[in-house]
Formats: sequence, structure tokens, C-alpha cells
Amino acid sequence: MEKELKEISQDIRKEIALCKDIDDFWLLHKKYLSKEGRLSILFQSLKKLSTDKRASLGSEANRIKKELTDLIKTKEIKVDQSSNLDDYFDPTLPGKKPAIGHIHPLTKSINRAKMIFEGMGFSTIEGPELEDEWHNFDALNFPKDHPAREMQDTLFIKQKNREKLLEKERLVMRTHTSPVQIRYMLTHKPPFRIIVPGRVFRNEATDASHEVNFYQIEGLMIDKDISVANFKAIMENFWQSFYGKKVKIRLRPSFFPFTEPSFEVDMSCTSCKGRGCSVCSKTGWLEVMGAGMVHPNVLKNSGVDPKKWQGFAFGMGWDRIVMMKYSIDDVRLFYGGDLRFLKQF
Ligand code: DAH
Repeated sequence: MEKELKEISQDIRKEIALCKDIDDFWLLHKKYLSKEGRLSILFQSLKKLSTDKRASLGSEANRIKKELTDLIKTKEIKVDQSSNLDDYFDPTLPGKKPAIGHIHPLTKSINRAKMIFEGMGFSTIEGPELEDEWHNFDALNFPKDHPAREMQDTLFIKQKNREKLLEKERLVMRTHTSPVQIRYMLTHKPPFRIIVPGRVFRNEATDASHEVNFYQIEGLMIDKDISVANFKAIMENFWQSFYGKKVKIRLRPSFFPFTEPSFEVDMSCTSCKGRGCSVCSKTGWLEVMGAGMVHPNVLKNSGVDPKKWQGFAFGMGWDRIVMMKYSIDDVRLFYGGDLRFLKQF
């Protein structure tokens, strides 16, 4: 055992000389001084010796253990202090900037639209994405079993005995933000001036210009004598602020069950100022929204007296507007989560 002790002592000294960095010392500790290390094993076997022998060898072993431990420590500190400058930590250097997220281009532009409308006295309202058929269709004057319900490619929610349920109990993913008009009018007193940004859902095959879910911004303005002229003025003001350019608006007759008269709204092309380019398919105009004067039945269904109150509503497909603004050619980019795309905004 004495011989073994000597050997260990010599081996450690030899190996210390070979240690180049802290990791080497760590291995040395492990090899000799850890629980499974050579010195510890030797201490274990001391227990088997007679009391006399154990006392003398034991104190010698302890002395050597201390001497070697100190030696390793001193050498270790020396190596550490002269070690590679690359490991030197300078607390005064500025830190690495962590990558943090930012606002999605759709949200960012919706926030901008909100700001502009709020400047004109509109409040921003939200409504449920899981809607019932009454709010989504019936209250908005969609005739029963009218193809318009299918036209909107509705995503119907599976429910037990669905056909026996009332319209207010039958659930759909809202196909447009228009039902929020009803929800708001039923719970507030006119006059109204609201916009409703939000996500809507359609059962459609996806391609560069179609997604199963997309964003709309709905608008509603009801007062004593609101006319189409007010609508035109508000919209021109909005588009000009949004694009930061002078734009013109034109209305074309259209059909929606919830407005009468109804129109499609075109805006003069912001890329070519109406001269005709590839963005506007050479027409000089871009279709930006559906709108109309709110149908008296819709007001009645919402508890508003159509003899006293009137006004306009509009709904715009927001994705397409943001795509035009930034020349984005595929709507799916908004929902793909590709950071190479998102980081550009
Ligand atoms: N809800 C219509 C759609 O999704 C858009 C719309 C058109 C909304 C005319 C309106 C409106 O409020 O007056 O296609």
C-alpha cells in the first residue's frame, strides 16, 4: 500500500506537468480525487488494515492527499490566469442583442387603419369568430335557403341534430365581419360609428389570392341623415391617409342582402395614379370594398327604427389591400410564418 501511495504521488506530479488547461485539471481531479478516483479507492482499502498500520499509513496518506490537492490547486490557478485571452470576459462590452419578434404586417396596418378611423370619430369593436347562423345570415337579411349562404363558402360547425336547432343555436365560423354590426346595434343606442377589424373564414381551396381565413375591416355609420355622399367623403379621407397620396373613389352598383342600394367601391390605382398598369390590370382602378346603405330590415332586426335612422356600412378584404400596398403577390405569405418574409416589415 505504501508503494501504491508513492506511485500515485509520482503519477499525479507527472500528469500535472502535462495539464494545459482547466479541462485537463478537471480530468485530473476526477481520476485521482473524486469518489471513484485512485486516492479515494486507496483510502477505502485502508479500512481493511490493522489498527496500528491504519493509523500510521492513514496519516501519511492524508498528508500526501493534502499535498497533492494543494499542488493541483496552485498549478490550476497559474494555468487559469495565463489561459487563453479568448476566455476573458469583459463585463463592459455591450451585450448581444436578443432577436425579438415584431408586429405582423396585417396587425400593423390594421392598427394604422384604426388610428385613421378613430380620428374620424369611429370606435373599434370586436366580435366572436365562432358565430351563429342568425347573426351571420338571418339578421343580415339573407333569405332562408338562399344560395348566398352557400355562396360565402361557409364552414358549418358539426353539431348533434343540427337541423333541429334554431338559427341562433347553429354555429358557423363567421364568413364576414358584418354580424358584428348586428351585435353592436342590439346592445347600443344610435347614432353609431364603428369599425370592426377581424378574422373571417371561408371553405375555399387556397391559392395565391385565396386563403381559408383572412381579415376584413367592417364599418358602420348610422345617424339621422347620413347619405352616400358622407360615405364617399369618409372613404376618400381614409384612403388618402392610409396611402399618403391623393386618391379618387368610384362606386359601381352591386348586390348584398344587407344593403340597399349596394355598391362595389373602386379606388384610383396608387401605383400608376389611374393611368393603367399591371397592378390594376390596365384599368386604372382597384376594387377595394363592398358597401351600401344599410337595409331597413337589418336595422329592424337590430332594434333600430329605420324611419328615424339611416346610414352606410362597408366591408373590405384587408389582406388584398395590404398586398397592394406592399406589392405582395401571394396571400399565403401572411399565414406561413416564414420569418424571411415577416422580417421585412
Ligand atoms: N360582408 C361582405 C363580404 O364579406 C362585405 C360587405 C359588403 C360588408 C357591403 C358590408 C357592406 O358592410 O355594406 O363580402
